[in-house]
Amino acid sequence: MGINELVHLNDGTEGSICGEKLSDTGKLISKGKSILIENNIISRIDDNEVLIEEFLPSFKKIEGEFVKNEVTSINIENLKITHVGGNSIIPGLIDSHTHLIWDGDRSNEVAMRMKGMTYAEISEAGGGIAYTVNKTRNSSDEQLIKLGKIRLNEALRNGTTALEAKSGYGLNTESELRLLSIMNDLASFTKSPSIDITWMGAHDIPPGKESKEHRKTEYIDNILNSQIPEVVEQGYARSCDVFCEPGWYGIDETEEIIDAATNAGLAARLHIDEFKDGGGGDLAAKKGVETADHALYSNRESREMMAKSNVNQGFLPGAPFTMGLNEWPPIKYCIENNQPWTIATDFNPNCKILSLPTIASICVQRLRVEPLAVLCGVTRNASQTVIHQTETPHGMLKEGYVANMNIVNGNKWEGWCLQLGSSPFKATILEGDIVKHTIVN
Ligand code: NIG
Ligand code: FE
Repeated sequence: MGINELVHLNDGTEGSICGEKLSDTGKLISKGKSILIENNIISRIDDNEVLIEEFLPSFKKIEGEFVKNEVTSINIENLKITHVGGNSIIPGLIDSHTHLIWDGDRSNEVAMRMKGMTYAEISEAGGGIAYTVNKTRNSSDEQLIKLGKIRLNEALRNGTTALEAKSGYGLNTESELRLLSIMNDLASFTKSPSIDITWMGAHDIPPGKESKEHRKTEYIDNILNSQIPEVVEQGYARSCDVFCEPGWYGIDETEEIIDAATNAGLAARLHIDEFKDGGGGDLAAKKGVETADHALYSNRESREMMAKSNVNQGFLPGAPFTMGLNEWPPIKYCIENNQPWTIATDFNPNCKILSLPTIASICVQRLRVEPLAVLCGVTRNASQTVIHQTETPHGMLKEGYVANMNIVNGNKWEGWCLQLGSSPFKATILEGDIVKHTIVN
């Protein structure tokens, strides 16, 4: 209780919100509401007076115990009452694209980029994904778990209550299975965001002495005949992902890999058109993948085809931002054309951002997309491509949904995406439990 604005995003429909509906403040935001939580699930959202009369007739007597702007909890019989002091509430954030587990430091690549070297050139000079693969293969399970825990805590402090996490820094069957198993261990921790695991064995071509083409042919053979069957048998990954990009995996190679993975029971997602339009959008539409991510250079026809096939465009503005590029995803174009889209961090060694509010700030304060539309891109719309571990729906504040929400540090909900470098949230309610954050006022 004590909520000023409640951004619930429940307009009575299901699925992604697109187009003009993304600005419908009347339908997506309410005032004067309280939320009832039972067994980690939202069981009711109703007017303050109605819930007070039904559950807390003694409210007038205890009202003085609650402090303005503060989050205060008191227990009365078997009820825990949390008063959020007049701050606003938004849903828990969902990060629909992360490379969560890797070791090693590639900070030196920034100078290479400034000298004009491209991502592909840095990779050919011994940096890039292959460098991280080497460091990750040589890192212990304990170290990778420790890194994972720290990263999950940082994501939670920034309001993330669920995320998608990919393998892809193993690049052989044994190391990829190890990374998936580490993610599965991390997923079992309580008080931590829910994890939806993706196998991304085709993230790069493994290092070696033979020519790149030779290594790629051998590796694709390994993926099809060893990795996919073993990943499926292991049972931790729900989806597969491929880096479909000229210079990495081409259209036919990507198609072969996602066909084999989906035939074996995995869902499909893709990295497409990050550095140039390589036709990944058409393939994403043809295969009906859940989400086609980056999609920075995709052409308009393929965007239209993706939308028609209900393929989400998963924009990752942190990638051009950290690479010093001035190319931004066409979010406004997608809104004008009713196409579904999300945004995510793309957390990886090259883009060390775990804060969705920071990514959102780029969209709002640079690309001038409305805060409500951006919020849908990291909550309700992102829930279409990230399954909650409990298999309960999430991403909206609605009866029957997981009780995941953020208490904004302020009475205006828009503050969720206007604070960089520190968390904009006073607290996060994670599956019904309150986690308080140290915040800067
Ligand atoms: O999504 N482009 C492929 N994968 C990551 C980058 C990984 C890396 O540079 O280590 C991405 O941007
Ligand atoms: Fe990525």
